[in-house]
Amino acid sequence: MVSLADTHGRHFEYLRLSLTDVCNFRCTYCLPDGYKSSGPDSFLSQSEISHLLVAFSELGITKVRLTGGEPTVRPDILSVVNTIAKLKDIEKVALTTNGYRLDALAGPLREAGLTHINVSVDSLDEDNFQKITGRPLLNKILTGIDKALTVGFEAVKINTVFLKDLNDFELPGFVEFVRRRNVSVRFIELMATGHSQNYFRKHFLSTRIIESYLHDRGWNEIAKRTTDGPAIEFAHPDYLGRIGMITPTAQDFCRSCNRLRVSSRGGLQLCLFGEGQYDLRPYLDSSHQKEDLKQKVAEALFLKPRAHNLESGAIGATHTLSMIGG
Ligand code: 5AD
Ligand code: SF4
Repeated sequence: MVSLADTHGRHFEYLRLSLTDVCNFRCTYCLPDGYKSSGPDSFLSQSEISHLLVAFSELGITKVRLTGGEPTVRPDILSVVNTIAKLKDIEKVALTTNGYRLDALAGPLREAGLTHINVSVDSLDEDNFQKITGRPLLNKILTGIDKALTVGFEAVKINTVFLKDLNDFELPGFVEFVRRRNVSVRFIELMATGHSQNYFRKHFLSTRIIESYLHDRGWNEIAKRTTDGPAIEFAHPDYLGRIGMITPTAQDFCRSCNRLRVSSRGGLQLCLFGEGQYDLRPYLDSSHQKEDLKQKVAEALFLKPRAHNLESGAIGATHTLSMIGG
């Protein structure tokens, strides 16, 4: 099997593909004023996605995560999932969603071939949820999560951006949430993006305090496999679920980076915080362009930087994560 590698010895088996920039939420750290279209919305079509994924799977990609914006705003989400799931070498198809249609979509997504699902939930209190995301949908989303737990996904995970004074006080509630649910709640450290420097100064809080909270209550860190993502996870014998932390600014985060990103318009982005994208769209019109496309991707990888420079304040070209899907 071919394998994509860069000049720093990292191998890439994992592709994050954004299906749309559109999102119907207004998370205060991401799209506080809601999504605003900046021109014609020409997101990759199903046939372009298919050509893209055939090439990437031949280059050794075995796991695809669909992101946005909010990927389930696409009316063709089920057939997109199915197109990808049917590809011979793709073993895992994951989706990151805000969950607003999950109560209706959990079963159909599973049937279409989705294997993993991550739902963003920043609060377990309806009022606070609305304050952070702009939408009064917590209960509907929790119904969707419980639905997802019954339809046979390999994993159901919750993403919670950890926010000082906005949801840090809800930590005990999230821990209680996983007592009887086989879900992993992962607290993500807030990242500074171009449009949110003030917000970052006000609401950033290190997830270190979660570690000591868990240690004090008998939780233990689970040993990581090399193919696992960048989260560290804790388990407890009395709890069915897990609690994890994702710290994008931590040392070494980049060394274990095994992912590539493609934007909803076909731009290959080598690092979430890197400048610039390689436009793959001109190579997605027909299956006859496959070899050129593979060549283009392999060339771009030679240029992937060793690490982002977030600790020293470099924020790259990523103004808000809805642009590329986190
Ligand atoms: N910092 C950390 N996480 C973020 N997300 C979006 N913007 C940020 C940010 N500035 C998260 C969402 C979701 C995932 C797609 O990325 O909450 O869980
Ligand atoms: Fe939408 Fe996700 Fe951004 Fe929230 S974090 S506004 S759900 S894209």
